[in-house]
Order: sequence, then structure tokens, then C-alpha cells
Amino acid sequence: MPSDELLCTALVQAAADGEAAAGSAADEEATAELAAGQRRHWMSILGDRTDRYGTEPSLPARAAAERFAAAGAVELLELGAGQGRDSVYFAHRGFNVHALDFADCGITAIRGKAQAADPVLPLRASVHDCRDDLPFQDASFDACFSHMLYCMALTTPQLEALSAEVRRVLRPGGLQVYTVRTTDDADFGAGVAHGDDMYEARGFVVHFFSRELVERLARGFELLDVTEFEEGDLPRRLFRVTQRRPG
Ligand SMILES: C[S@@+](CC[C@H](N)C(=O)[O-])C[C@H]1O[C@@H](n2cnc3c(N)ncnc32)[C@H](O)[C@@H]1O
Repeated sequence: MPSDELLCTALVQAAADGEAAAGSAADEEATAELAAGQRRHWMSILGDRTDRYGTEPSLPARAAAERFAAAGAVELLELGAGQGRDSVYFAHRGFNVHALDFADCGITAIRGKAQAADPVLPLRASVHDCRDDLPFQDASFDACFSHMLYCMALTTPQLEALSAEVRRVLRPGGLQVYTVRTTDDADFGAGVAHGDDMYEARGFVVHFFSRELVERLARGFELLDVTEFEEGDLPRRLFRVTQRRPG
């Protein structure tokens, strides 16, 4: 028979375990709601018109294309491709591009642009939420690019899982270039706080990156380069991160 003291300790522990489980279930629910809300938001933003970010490729896409071409990359995965300003550019540069985004109107826009540019342009586009495993076999790509996808409403554990997935689908020696808004950005700390350095302003949730987070996500990669740059009127302050799956 347990003593009263042991029984009491066991009851306190059981209550604490119950509270922790309820807390983590509530956290998971809040994260899922945040993601669902962001998907709806992006659908409405990208549904408005097909060139929200302009028709020209982004500067990081141009820089990444040089780096990928110099490494002899051909098969290119793009995450959070939006309406495809960079996807179309990469395909015109001769890469075989597979573009993913969770907003189906963005994917429809990308397919329309590819068809209008050249029906045989090497550009495929699919709806995919980057919180789920990537729908590709191991070592399918030579390179992976994303402009401002990692700094969306993705928690650090979700980013770690995504990073492991990118590593899996890259061939050994494959390159990844991604950009993210940083904790030096003027918007960092403004608006509604969602924890984990995520803030919501004007309906957009942004995960602001510290250097530590970049290094954390580089586990299993060789971190080659972290370049700071600015974009837009604010201006947004970003990192362009280049890393390689070890060969
Ligand atoms: C800031 S926009 C950048 C779009 C594009 N890279 C560009 O520069 O034109 C971020 C994109 O990420 C997409 N996105 C956000 N969260 C996502 C998720 N969990 N999975 C897939 N796409 C996501 C949005 O739909 C949006 O198209």
C-alpha cells in the first residue's frame, strides 16, 4: 500500500500531466487555426489579381539562379511560389521547375503564366502546404529556392520538419537558397504576438528570423552564406541563406 505522502505526490503529478497535455492540445489547436486563417488570407490576397508581387523576378531569385547554374543544377524545387514571378524566370533560365504553394489561386496563376509564355516551358505547379511532408522521393532535386516562405506562419518545430524534408529531397551536394525577414525588420514586435517571434499585422503573420534560428535550421546542412538585404518601401530587412546538403 502506498503511503499517504506517495499517494499525494502521484496525484499532484497526474494533475500536472493532465494540465500539460491539455495545454499542448490547446497550443496545437491554436497553431492549426493560425495556419488555416493564413491560408484563407493568402487565398484572398492572391485571388485579387495575378501579379501582386510584380512581373519581374525577385533579386534573390536572380542571385540564386546564378549560384544554381554555376553548380550545374537542373531540377529545381520552389516553395511558397506565390503567383510564379520567380518560377517562370527559373524555367526561362532552363531549370526544370516544380513550384509549390498552399494557395490554389496562386498555382492556377502560375500554370496560366507558364502556358501563356510557352506551352512546353519546363514548369509544373502543385498545391501543397509546407507543413506536410514534401510529395517527392528522396534526392529528387539539385536545388531548392524559396523567397519569404520560411518566414510565414510556421512554428520553429514546423520549420525544423520542413528543413529536414528539404534536405531529404535534395540530392547529396544539392543547394538550398531561402530568404526570411529578420528580427532587425521595422515590423518585428509590431501587431498581435503569436509567440515564437511571430507577429500579425494587417492580416499577415510573419515569423521573424534571428541568426540563431538560421543556424538551428542549418543542422544537417553546410551553411555557406547568410547575406543581409532590403526589399520594398518599408524597407523589409531580410536574410538570404545559402546552404548545401553535404555530398
Ligand atoms: C510573401 S509570399 C511570397 C510569394 C513568392 N515567393 C514571391 O516572392 O513572389 C509567401 C507565399 O507563401 C505561401 N505560403 C504561406 N504559408 C504556406 C505554407 N504553409 N505552405 C505553402 N505555401 C505557403 C503564400 O500562399 C504566399 O504565396
